Amino acid sequence: MTVLVTGGAGFIGSNFIFYMLKAHPDYRIVCYDALTYAGNLSTLSSVLDNPRFRFVKGDICDREAVYKLFEEEKFDYVVHFAAESHVDRSIEDPGIFVKTNVLGTQVLLDAAVKYGVKRFHHVSTDEVYGDLPLDRPDMFFVETLPLKASSPYSASKASSDLLVMAYCRTFGLDATLSRCSNNYGPYQFPEKMIPLMIANATADKPLPVYGEGINVRDWLYVEDHCKAIDLILHNGRPGEVYNIGGHNEMRNIDIVKLILKELGKPESLITFVKDRKGHDMRYAIDPTKIHNEIGWLPETKFADGIKETIRWYLNNRDWWEEIVNGEYKNYYQKMYGNR
Ligand code: NAD
Ligand code: DAU
Repeated sequence: MTVLVTGGAGFIGSNFIFYMLKAHPDYRIVCYDALTYAGNLSTLSSVLDNPRFRFVKGDICDREAVYKLFEEEKFDYVVHFAAESHVDRSIEDPGIFVKTNVLGTQVLLDAAVKYGVKRFHHVSTDEVYGDLPLDRPDMFFVETLPLKASSPYSASKASSDLLVMAYCRTFGLDATLSRCSNNYGPYQFPEKMIPLMIANATADKPLPVYGEGINVRDWLYVEDHCKAIDLILHNGRPGEVYNIGGHNEMRNIDIVKLILKELGKPESLITFVKDRKGHDMRYAIDPTKIHNEIGWLPETKFADGIKETIRWYLNNRDWWEEIVNGEYKNYYQKMYGNR
Protein backbone atom coordinates (compact mmCIF):
# COMPACT_ATOMS: atom_id res chain seq x y z
CA MET A 1 0.00 0.00 0.00
CA THR A 2 1.20 3.51 -0.77
CA VAL A 3 -0.10 6.25 1.49
CA LEU A 4 0.03 9.97 0.75
CA VAL A 5 0.40 12.02 3.92
CA THR A 6 -0.07 15.74 3.29
CA GLY A 7 1.38 18.13 5.88
CA GLY A 8 3.67 15.41 7.24
CA ALA A 9 6.43 17.85 8.19
CA GLY A 10 4.12 19.42 10.77
CA PHE A 11 3.23 18.32 14.28
CA ILE A 12 0.56 15.62 13.91
CA GLY A 13 1.49 14.58 10.37
CA SER A 14 5.08 13.77 11.37
CA ASN A 15 3.94 11.76 14.39
CA PHE A 16 1.51 9.93 12.08
CA ILE A 17 4.33 9.05 9.64
CA PHE A 18 6.46 7.61 12.48
CA TYR A 19 3.44 5.66 13.72
CA MET A 20 2.49 4.26 10.30
CA LEU A 21 6.03 3.21 9.32
CA LYS A 22 6.14 1.14 12.54
CA ALA A 23 2.55 -0.13 12.54
CA HIS A 24 2.56 -1.21 8.86
CA PRO A 25 5.99 -2.62 7.89
CA ASP A 26 4.77 -3.26 4.32
CA TYR A 27 3.44 0.27 3.66
CA ARG A 28 5.19 3.02 1.73
CA ILE A 29 4.59 6.58 2.89
CA VAL A 30 4.91 9.64 0.67
CA CYS A 31 4.90 12.95 2.51
CA TYR A 32 3.85 16.02 0.53
CA ASP A 33 4.45 19.27 2.37
CA ALA A 34 5.07 22.89 1.35
CA LEU A 35 7.39 23.46 4.35
CA THR A 36 5.62 26.63 5.45
CA TYR A 37 6.74 28.28 8.71
CA ALA A 38 5.05 25.33 10.49
CA GLY A 39 6.75 22.57 8.50
CA ASN A 40 10.21 21.40 9.41
CA LEU A 41 12.18 18.87 7.39
CA SER A 42 14.50 18.19 10.34
CA THR A 43 11.50 16.68 12.15
CA LEU A 44 11.58 13.89 9.55
CA SER A 45 15.36 13.38 9.65
CA SER A 46 15.05 9.93 11.27
CA VAL A 47 13.01 8.58 8.33
CA LEU A 48 14.46 10.46 5.33
CA ASP A 49 16.74 7.51 4.46
CA ASN A 50 14.06 4.88 5.00
CA PRO A 51 13.43 3.13 1.63
CA ARG A 52 9.71 3.02 2.48
CA PHE A 53 9.57 6.81 2.80
CA ARG A 54 9.64 9.63 0.25
CA PHE A 55 9.48 13.35 0.90
CA VAL A 56 8.17 15.69 -1.79
CA LYS A 57 8.16 19.43 -1.27
CA GLY A 58 5.05 21.03 -2.74
CA ASP A 59 1.93 23.05 -2.18
CA ILE A 60 -1.48 21.35 -2.07
CA CYS A 61 -2.87 24.35 -4.00
CA ASP A 62 -0.54 23.56 -6.94
CA ARG A 63 -2.89 21.45 -9.05
CA GLU A 64 -0.26 20.51 -11.65
CA ALA A 65 2.22 19.27 -9.05
CA VAL A 66 -0.47 17.38 -7.13
CA TYR A 67 -1.79 15.65 -10.26
CA LYS A 68 1.76 14.73 -11.32
CA LEU A 69 2.38 13.13 -7.93
CA PHE A 70 -0.90 11.17 -8.00
CA GLU A 71 -0.12 9.94 -11.52
CA GLU A 72 3.37 8.88 -10.49
CA GLU A 73 2.55 7.22 -7.18
CA LYS A 74 -0.91 5.67 -7.73
CA PHE A 75 -1.83 6.15 -4.07
CA ASP A 76 -3.98 3.63 -2.25
CA TYR A 77 -4.75 5.96 0.64
CA VAL A 78 -4.62 9.70 1.24
CA VAL A 79 -4.44 11.10 4.76
CA HIS A 80 -4.84 14.86 4.58
CA PHE A 81 -3.28 16.89 7.40
CA ALA A 82 -1.85 19.88 5.48
CA ALA A 83 -3.42 23.08 6.72
CA GLU A 84 -2.88 26.44 8.28
CA SER A 85 -3.60 25.40 11.85
CA HIS A 86 -3.20 28.30 14.28
CA VAL A 87 -6.32 30.21 15.37
CA ASP A 88 -4.42 33.40 16.33
CA ARG A 89 -2.81 33.61 12.88
CA SER A 90 -6.25 33.18 11.26
CA ILE A 91 -7.45 36.26 13.14
CA GLU A 92 -4.50 38.25 11.76
CA ASP A 93 -4.72 36.94 8.17
CA PRO A 94 -7.76 34.83 7.23
CA GLY A 95 -7.00 34.69 3.48
CA ILE A 96 -4.26 32.07 3.57
CA PHE A 97 -6.55 29.85 5.68
CA VAL A 98 -9.23 29.89 2.99
CA LYS A 99 -6.63 29.27 0.27
CA THR A 100 -4.83 26.35 1.90
CA ASN A 101 -7.60 24.75 3.92
CA VAL A 102 -10.46 25.09 1.43
CA LEU A 103 -8.94 25.41 -2.05
CA GLY A 104 -6.00 23.13 -1.26
CA THR A 105 -8.38 20.45 0.00
CA GLN A 106 -10.43 20.82 -3.19
CA VAL A 107 -7.35 20.19 -5.35
CA LEU A 108 -6.58 16.99 -3.41
CA LEU A 109 -10.19 15.83 -3.68
CA ASP A 110 -10.16 16.42 -7.44
CA ALA A 111 -6.92 14.43 -7.71
CA ALA A 112 -8.36 11.59 -5.62
CA VAL A 113 -11.43 11.40 -7.88
CA LYS A 114 -9.41 11.70 -11.11
CA TYR A 115 -6.76 9.09 -10.27
CA GLY A 116 -8.82 6.92 -7.87
CA VAL A 117 -7.89 5.95 -4.32
CA LYS A 118 -9.16 3.29 -1.95
CA ARG A 119 -9.83 5.93 0.72
CA PHE A 120 -9.36 9.64 1.36
CA HIS A 121 -9.17 10.49 5.07
CA HIS A 122 -9.64 14.14 6.01
CA VAL A 123 -8.17 15.27 9.33
CA SER A 124 -10.45 17.88 10.81
CA THR A 125 -11.04 19.50 14.18
CA ASP A 126 -13.61 19.72 16.95
CA GLU A 127 -13.51 23.52 16.50
CA VAL A 128 -15.98 23.20 13.61
CA TYR A 129 -18.73 22.70 16.23
CA GLY A 130 -18.09 26.10 17.83
CA ASP A 131 -17.89 25.96 21.61
CA LEU A 132 -19.83 24.69 24.62
CA PRO A 133 -20.84 26.68 27.71
CA LEU A 134 -18.70 26.30 30.84
CA ASP A 135 -21.79 25.78 33.04
CA ARG A 136 -23.15 22.80 31.05
CA PRO A 137 -20.74 19.93 31.83
CA ASP A 138 -23.43 17.56 30.53
CA MET A 139 -23.01 18.86 26.95
CA PHE A 140 -20.51 17.30 24.52
CA PHE A 141 -19.66 17.52 20.83
CA VAL A 142 -21.38 14.71 18.92
CA GLU A 143 -21.00 14.08 15.19
CA THR A 144 -24.60 15.09 14.42
CA LEU A 145 -24.24 18.67 15.72
CA PRO A 146 -24.51 21.44 13.15
CA LEU A 147 -21.27 23.21 12.18
CA LYS A 148 -20.91 26.56 13.95
CA ALA A 149 -17.34 27.78 13.55
CA SER A 150 -16.09 30.77 15.56
CA SER A 151 -12.73 31.70 13.97
CA PRO A 152 -11.58 32.04 10.36
CA TYR A 153 -9.48 28.91 11.02
CA SER A 154 -12.43 26.80 12.13
CA ALA A 155 -14.66 28.25 9.38
CA SER A 156 -12.08 27.18 6.79
CA LYS A 157 -11.87 23.68 8.30
CA ALA A 158 -15.70 23.43 8.38
CA SER A 159 -15.77 24.42 4.70
CA SER A 160 -13.25 21.72 3.85
CA ASP A 161 -15.34 19.18 5.78
CA LEU A 162 -18.39 20.08 3.70
CA LEU A 163 -16.39 19.71 0.49
CA VAL A 164 -15.16 16.25 1.50
CA MET A 165 -18.71 15.08 2.19
CA ALA A 166 -19.94 16.62 -1.08
CA TYR A 167 -17.26 14.72 -3.07
CA CYS A 168 -18.38 11.54 -1.34
CA ARG A 169 -22.00 12.00 -2.32
CA THR A 170 -21.57 13.55 -5.77
CA PHE A 171 -18.51 11.75 -7.12
CA GLY A 172 -18.70 8.54 -5.07
CA LEU A 173 -15.31 9.21 -3.45
CA ASP A 174 -14.64 6.84 -0.54
CA ALA A 175 -13.86 9.37 2.19
CA THR A 176 -13.82 9.42 5.97
CA LEU A 177 -13.48 12.42 8.24
CA SER A 178 -12.28 12.81 11.81
CA ARG A 179 -12.71 15.74 14.20
CA CYS A 180 -10.20 15.69 16.98
CA SER A 181 -9.74 17.75 20.13
CA ASN A 182 -6.50 19.53 21.14
CA ASN A 183 -3.36 17.46 20.65
CA TYR A 184 -0.13 17.73 22.60
CA GLY A 185 3.20 15.89 22.36
CA PRO A 186 6.60 15.99 20.60
CA TYR A 187 7.27 18.27 17.60
CA GLN A 188 4.40 20.71 18.22
CA PHE A 189 5.27 24.17 16.89
CA PRO A 190 5.97 26.53 19.82
CA GLU A 191 3.19 28.97 18.86
CA LYS A 192 0.65 26.56 20.39
CA MET A 193 -0.16 26.87 24.08
CA ILE A 194 1.61 23.89 25.65
CA PRO A 195 5.00 24.16 23.86
CA LEU A 196 4.87 27.97 24.11
CA MET A 197 4.46 27.76 27.88
CA ILE A 198 7.22 25.13 28.18
CA ALA A 199 9.62 27.22 26.06
CA ASN A 200 8.88 30.45 27.95
CA ALA A 201 9.10 28.81 31.37
CA THR A 202 12.49 27.24 30.64
CA ALA A 203 13.75 30.72 29.62
CA ASP A 204 12.14 32.37 32.70
CA LYS A 205 10.00 34.49 30.36
CA PRO A 206 6.38 35.52 31.20
CA LEU A 207 3.70 32.93 30.39
CA PRO A 208 0.93 34.80 28.49
CA VAL A 209 -2.44 33.39 29.59
CA TYR A 210 -5.37 34.76 27.56
CA GLY A 211 -8.24 36.33 29.54
CA GLU A 212 -8.75 34.62 32.88
CA GLY A 213 -7.32 31.27 31.78
CA ILE A 214 -10.63 29.50 32.43
CA ASN A 215 -11.19 28.25 28.86
CA VAL A 216 -11.40 24.48 28.69
CA ARG A 217 -9.87 22.16 26.10
CA ASP A 218 -10.08 18.35 25.86
CA TRP A 219 -6.40 17.34 25.55
CA LEU A 220 -5.27 14.21 23.70
CA TYR A 221 -1.77 12.79 23.37
CA VAL A 222 -0.78 12.94 19.70
CA GLU A 223 -0.01 9.22 19.39
CA ASP A 224 -3.56 8.39 20.46
CA HIS A 225 -4.82 10.61 17.64
CA CYS A 226 -2.54 8.82 15.15
CA LYS A 227 -3.86 5.41 16.24
CA ALA A 228 -7.43 6.62 15.82
CA ILE A 229 -6.76 7.85 12.27
CA ASP A 230 -5.10 4.54 11.33
CA LEU A 231 -8.15 2.67 12.63
CA ILE A 232 -10.62 4.89 10.78
CA LEU A 233 -8.57 4.66 7.58
CA HIS A 234 -8.85 0.86 7.64
CA ASN A 235 -12.10 0.18 9.51
CA GLY A 236 -14.19 3.34 9.34
CA ARG A 237 -17.36 3.39 7.26
CA PRO A 238 -17.22 5.48 4.06
CA GLY A 239 -18.91 8.86 4.28
CA GLU A 240 -18.79 8.87 8.08
CA VAL A 241 -17.52 11.47 10.55
CA TYR A 242 -15.75 10.29 13.71
CA ASN A 243 -15.05 12.51 16.73
CA ILE A 244 -11.75 11.81 18.49
CA GLY A 245 -11.11 12.93 22.05
CA GLY A 246 -10.68 11.63 25.47
CA HIS A 247 -12.81 13.03 28.32
CA ASN A 248 -9.77 14.97 29.43
CA GLU A 249 -11.07 18.50 29.94
CA MET A 250 -8.71 20.95 31.56
CA ARG A 251 -8.64 24.70 32.11
CA ASN A 252 -5.71 26.54 30.51
CA ILE A 253 -4.60 28.02 33.83
CA ASP A 254 -4.38 24.57 35.44
CA ILE A 255 -2.19 23.28 32.61
CA VAL A 256 0.09 26.31 32.86
CA LYS A 257 0.46 25.80 36.62
CA LEU A 258 1.20 22.12 36.07
CA ILE A 259 3.95 22.94 33.55
CA LEU A 260 5.53 25.42 35.96
CA LYS A 261 5.42 22.84 38.76
CA GLU A 262 7.02 20.16 36.59
CA LEU A 263 9.79 22.58 35.59
CA GLY A 264 10.29 23.89 39.13
CA LYS A 265 9.46 27.45 38.06
CA PRO A 266 7.44 30.04 40.06
CA GLU A 267 3.79 30.89 39.34
CA SER A 268 4.82 34.54 39.31
CA LEU A 269 5.79 33.94 35.66
CA ILE A 270 2.07 33.75 34.79
CA THR A 271 0.90 36.94 33.06
CA PHE A 272 -2.76 37.42 32.16
CA VAL A 273 -2.98 39.13 28.77
CA LYS A 274 -5.74 40.46 26.51
CA ASP A 275 -8.10 37.69 25.45
CA ARG A 276 -8.19 36.14 21.97
CA LYS A 277 -10.98 37.63 19.80
CA GLY A 278 -14.02 35.32 19.69
CA HIS A 279 -12.25 32.93 22.11
CA ASP A 280 -14.07 29.59 22.33
CA MET A 281 -14.90 28.72 25.95
CA ARG A 282 -15.02 24.95 26.07
CA TYR A 283 -14.38 21.97 23.80
CA ALA A 284 -15.44 18.50 24.90
CA ILE A 285 -15.69 15.42 22.70
CA ASP A 286 -18.12 12.56 23.02
CA PRO A 287 -16.06 9.66 21.58
CA THR A 288 -18.86 7.05 21.82
CA LYS A 289 -19.13 6.49 18.05
CA ILE A 290 -15.45 5.71 17.41
CA HIS A 291 -15.37 3.54 20.53
CA ASN A 292 -18.47 1.53 19.66
CA GLU A 293 -17.80 1.16 15.93
CA ILE A 294 -14.02 0.86 15.82
CA GLY A 295 -12.95 0.06 19.37
CA TRP A 296 -10.73 3.12 19.86
CA LEU A 297 -10.12 4.65 23.27
CA PRO A 298 -7.37 7.04 24.34
CA GLU A 299 -4.54 5.19 26.06
CA THR A 300 -2.22 7.90 27.40
CA LYS A 301 -3.21 9.51 30.70
CA PHE A 302 -2.67 13.29 30.68
CA ALA A 303 -0.44 13.07 33.78
CA ASP A 304 1.94 10.76 31.88
CA GLY A 305 1.64 12.44 28.47
CA ILE A 306 2.43 15.92 29.75
CA LYS A 307 5.51 14.65 31.66
CA GLU A 308 6.69 12.86 28.51
CA THR A 309 6.07 16.01 26.45
CA ILE A 310 7.99 18.26 28.85
CA ARG A 311 10.83 15.73 28.91
CA TRP A 312 10.87 15.72 25.09
CA TYR A 313 11.13 19.52 24.88
CA LEU A 314 13.93 19.52 27.48
CA ASN A 315 15.84 16.81 25.58
CA ASN A 316 15.29 18.35 22.14
CA ARG A 317 16.11 21.98 22.74
CA ASP A 318 17.92 22.27 19.38
CA TRP A 319 14.68 21.52 17.55
CA TRP A 320 12.61 24.32 19.09
CA GLU A 321 15.36 26.80 19.98
CA GLU A 322 16.22 27.07 16.30
CA ILE A 323 12.56 27.96 15.68
CA VAL A 324 12.11 30.47 18.52
CA ASN A 325 15.38 32.21 17.65
CA GLY A 326 14.40 32.67 13.98
CA GLU A 327 11.45 34.39 12.25
CA TYR A 328 9.30 33.36 15.23
CA LYS A 329 10.81 36.26 17.20
CA ASN A 330 8.98 38.72 14.91
CA TYR A 331 5.77 36.73 15.23
CA TYR A 332 6.07 36.72 19.02
CA GLN A 333 6.70 40.46 19.16
CA LYS A 334 3.73 41.14 16.88
CA MET A 335 1.31 38.90 18.80
CA TYR A 336 2.46 39.46 22.37
CA GLY A 337 4.52 42.70 22.30
CA ASN A 338 1.68 45.05 23.28
CA ARG A 339 -0.82 42.55 24.57
P1 NAD B 1 0.94 22.12 11.82
O1 NAD B 1 0.66 23.58 11.62
O2 NAD B 1 1.90 21.69 12.85
O3 NAD B 1 1.42 21.47 10.44
C1 NAD B 1 0.81 21.79 9.21
C2 NAD B 1 1.70 21.25 8.09
O4 NAD B 1 1.05 21.51 6.85
C3 NAD B 1 3.09 21.91 8.02
O5 NAD B 1 4.08 20.94 7.85
C4 NAD B 1 3.00 22.81 6.81
O6 NAD B 1 4.23 23.01 6.15
C5 NAD B 1 2.01 22.04 5.95
N1 NAD B 1 1.30 22.93 5.00
C6 NAD B 1 0.69 24.10 5.27
N2 NAD B 1 0.20 24.63 4.14
C7 NAD B 1 0.49 23.76 3.14
C8 NAD B 1 0.24 23.75 1.74
N3 NAD B 1 -0.41 24.75 1.15
N4 NAD B 1 0.67 22.69 1.02
C9 NAD B 1 1.34 21.67 1.62
N5 NAD B 1 1.62 21.64 2.93
C10 NAD B 1 1.20 22.67 3.68
O7 NAD B 1 -0.48 21.48 12.06
P2 NAD B 1 -0.93 20.28 13.04
O8 NAD B 1 -1.18 20.82 14.39
O9 NAD B 1 -0.01 19.14 12.85
O10 NAD B 1 -2.35 19.94 12.41
C11 NAD B 1 -2.45 19.02 11.32
C12 NAD B 1 -3.92 18.87 10.94
O11 NAD B 1 -4.66 18.41 12.06
C13 NAD B 1 -4.58 20.19 10.50
O12 NAD B 1 -5.43 19.90 9.43
C14 NAD B 1 -5.37 20.63 11.71
O13 NAD B 1 -6.50 21.37 11.32
C15 NAD B 1 -5.76 19.28 12.32
N6 NAD B 1 -5.97 19.26 13.78
C16 NAD B 1 -5.01 19.75 14.63
C17 NAD B 1 -5.21 19.65 16.01
C18 NAD B 1 -4.17 20.15 16.98
O14 NAD B 1 -4.42 20.14 18.19
N7 NAD B 1 -2.98 20.56 16.57
C19 NAD B 1 -6.37 19.06 16.51
C20 NAD B 1 -7.34 18.60 15.60
C21 NAD B 1 -7.12 18.69 14.25
O1 DAU C 1 -9.36 21.71 19.19
C1 DAU C 1 -8.48 21.41 18.18
C2 DAU C 1 -7.67 22.63 17.82
O2 DAU C 1 -6.74 22.82 18.88
C3 DAU C 1 -6.92 22.48 16.50
O3 DAU C 1 -7.86 22.41 15.47
C4 DAU C 1 -5.99 23.67 16.25
O4 DAU C 1 -5.23 23.45 15.08
C5 DAU C 1 -5.06 23.78 17.43
O5 DAU C 1 -4.24 24.91 17.27
C6 DAU C 1 -5.86 23.90 18.73
O6 DAU C 1 -6.57 25.16 18.81
P1 DAU C 1 -6.59 26.04 20.16
O7 DAU C 1 -6.89 27.42 19.79
O8 DAU C 1 -7.44 25.40 21.20
O9 DAU C 1 -5.03 25.83 20.62
P2 DAU C 1 -3.96 26.85 21.19
O10 DAU C 1 -2.77 26.04 21.59
O11 DAU C 1 -3.74 28.00 20.27
O12 DAU C 1 -4.66 27.41 22.50
C7 DAU C 1 -5.11 26.54 23.53
C8 DAU C 1 -5.78 27.42 24.58
O13 DAU C 1 -4.77 28.23 25.22
C9 DAU C 1 -6.81 28.41 24.03
O14 DAU C 1 -7.87 28.54 24.96
C10 DAU C 1 -6.04 29.73 23.94
C11 DAU C 1 -5.05 29.63 25.09
N1 DAU C 1 -3.77 30.31 24.89
C12 DAU C 1 -3.08 30.05 23.74
C13 DAU C 1 -1.85 30.65 23.50
C14 DAU C 1 -1.11 30.41 22.22
C15 DAU C 1 -3.25 31.15 25.85
O15 DAU C 1 -3.88 31.37 26.91
N2 DAU C 1 -2.05 31.74 25.62
C16 DAU C 1 -1.34 31.56 24.48
O16 DAU C 1 -0.25 32.19 24.32
